[in-house]
Amino acid sequence: MIANRPGRIRRLASMRGLVRETTLVPQELVMPLFVKEGLRRDWAIPSMPGQFQHSLDGLLKEARRCRKAGVGAVMLFGIPARKHISGSGAFSETGIIPRALRRLKKEFPDLLLVADVCLCAYTRSGHCGLHVKNRLDKDATLAALARTALLYARSGADVVAPSDMMDGRVARIRDLLNAKGFSDTAILSYAVKYASAYYGPFRQAAENTPQSGDRRGYQMDPPNTDEALREAAADIEEGADLLLVKPALSYLDIVFRIKQDLVFPTGVYNVSGEYAMVKAAAAQGWINEKNTVLENLVSMKRAGADFIVSYWARCASDWLREGAY
Ligand code: PBG
Ligand code: ZN
Repeated sequence: MIANRPGRIRRLASMRGLVRETTLVPQELVMPLFVKEGLRRDWAIPSMPGQFQHSLDGLLKEARRCRKAGVGAVMLFGIPARKHISGSGAFSETGIIPRALRRLKKEFPDLLLVADVCLCAYTRSGHCGLHVKNRLDKDATLAALARTALLYARSGADVVAPSDMMDGRVARIRDLLNAKGFSDTAILSYAVKYASAYYGPFRQAAENTPQSGDRRGYQMDPPNTDEALREAAADIEEGADLLLVKPALSYLDIVFRIKQDLVFPTGVYNVSGEYAMVKAAAAQGWINEKNTVLENLVSMKRAGADFIVSYWARCASDWLREGAY
């Protein structure tokens, strides 16, 4: 007879529950939402089934559902009606994000609001920074990003989330926020963002496709790990409160290493391509959506993520409340 039988603790659901090491709860899920200026009704995004470019009213409705489901936060992406070379729509007082933030804050004072801060949806070039004669104008870019972050903080964002990958932007944003009386506004830095093919479907959602070239000049090279640690450490130094690793599934080794080495609040972004793949397979009946999604999400937690930005945040929260895990 063998004395050691690992299977003994797997036989009953109650026993599995007793020894489960990793948990998944709605509170650590963040729901990304798109809101487009001038829309009269929600528009279904073809590359991301179940996701929408929302009108302002549609956004409020969806936010109400998210709050009811118990998600930890919503994260807003704006799409302007018109783009400008200078990306100035990003920091216009009457822009779609400031308007959305003001309404959400008023309607749902207890819902945590995160605002993505970037220029790519607002520039004609579709790039995250401002380019003059094909070269990045670093000063103009940092000034525009900081101005945008301040406006979003003023409009009601609890957290501003720069996703541009420009060096030094966390420090610039922190300085300006502090100088203007917003020292309590948190910064969620997309510190570790890889130049990934998994962002494909998002381009249709955010209308931010680069008009020339790609983002490899500022997003990270997928084969690298050490660089991720340097990026994360630099952003902590500059004043980031929360870090984000993006994409999630192919980069869980990075999350693990950051949590081990830096011991800092870190989330992952379960991106559009990761969403689209599961949706497509599920639509064919090749995979069970709910089980696959929950397994994916729990694997992110197991790797060390404290929170997860995911297009499934609301759905998964409902599944979890129904007792899925
Ligand atoms: C760019 C940005 C990207 C995403 C969010 N903001 C990447 C990109 O377009 O290069 C991707 C999110 C997703 O794929 O779900 N600021
Ligand atoms: Zn961008």
